[in-house]
Amino acid sequence: MDAVKETQSQAPVEAGPPPSVALLQLTTGTMVTQAVSVVARLGVADALAGGPKSCEDIAASVDADAPTLYRLLRAVADRGVVIHLDDDRFELTPVGELLRTDVHGSLRAWATMAGLPFHRDAWTDLYASVRTGEPAFARLHGTDLFGYLAGHPDDAAVFDAAMTSVSLSMLAGIVHAYDFGRFSTVVDVGGGRGGLLCAILLANSHLRGVLFDTPSVSAQARQTVERAGVADRCDIAAGDFFSAVPSAGDLYILSNILHDWDDPTAVRILKSCRVAMGGGRLLIVEGVLPDGAAISVAKLVDLEMLVLTPGGRQRTRADFERLLGDAGLRATKVVAATMDVPASYVEAEAI
Ligand SMILES: C[S@@+](CC[C@H](N)C(=O)[O-])C[C@H]1O[C@@H](n2cnc3c(N)ncnc32)[C@H](O)[C@@H]1O
Repeated sequence: MDAVKETQSQAPVEAGPPPSVALLQLTTGTMVTQAVSVVARLGVADALAGGPKSCEDIAASVDADAPTLYRLLRAVADRGVVIHLDDDRFELTPVGELLRTDVHGSLRAWATMAGLPFHRDAWTDLYASVRTGEPAFARLHGTDLFGYLAGHPDDAAVFDAAMTSVSLSMLAGIVHAYDFGRFSTVVDVGGGRGGLLCAILLANSHLRGVLFDTPSVSAQARQTVERAGVADRCDIAAGDFFSAVPSAGDLYILSNILHDWDDPTAVRILKSCRVAMGGGRLLIVEGVLPDGAAISVAKLVDLEMLVLTPGGRQRTRADFERLLGDAGLRATKVVAATMDVPASYVEAEAI
């Protein structure tokens, strides 16, 4: 019995700081997040793009109160976002560079969103979620995340850009981890502004793409597709994936979609894809939860889904197999991210 316990439990935590220091580090994470978010939201990194500047110069560029901005910058300097130089100027680090707007791999929108009230308030309500099992977002806002975003264009713009930046920086691994060469038309269902689809099309010059999302998000996607230089191979379609998805493809992608929804709703989306895909394949791109106690970032993402979405969650391989079965599909391959394969995906076909 003990031997079984041994193999199922998490590896012992390596020697680190004393428990009190470790706990203080854990409980200051939210302060760091908020500080970095404000740096991102103000555009400090864009102001520093040309090289080191004094706090007064940065404050003038970003319209901030200089003495207070100084307090913020010296705090995030301790966290490696900027370097506090001996002459009291500030300079971007490689981490801080990623808070610029127009650099490859920019995470500015993601960092901004992490501190915006619509996102933070939901996390603040985690306590009530854990007590009741109910998602926090709808309790706070009286509507689900996507209903809220439809009525709040400023937050929606940050959310869409955040999803795009995370897709580009983290999901780009799927472009190399999965063989797209055998397909001709990829339909990205709920593809947002098209960051992932553009990366796939750029890496596979024979492929055509269809980017499918709600009308308001699709309207924003044209720019991404044109900037990527794939507009001649990529159609943009708008609609509701609960009703129907375009039937043009032999590969359908659901990237970070199913984890937004509870099981019955996820099955409805899968059924829409099944109707459209015929004999094609479905590629679900999202973190697959490991069984048991193995360490995985998907466990924290699962809490993000708990507070933000209407019943969404991260799922294990068995969870995906059950959902797929309920929608008349079966898994053909399940890959969980490792150090060597930085992408998690589930491939499926119709039964
Ligand atoms: C979490 S984002 C994922 C975006 C993108 N696939 C990615 O990986 O970055 C969920 C996407 O689903 C879209 N969506 C939500 N409800 C939808 C619906 N009923 N029909 C089509 N798209 C929808 C949202 O607009 C959003 O772009």
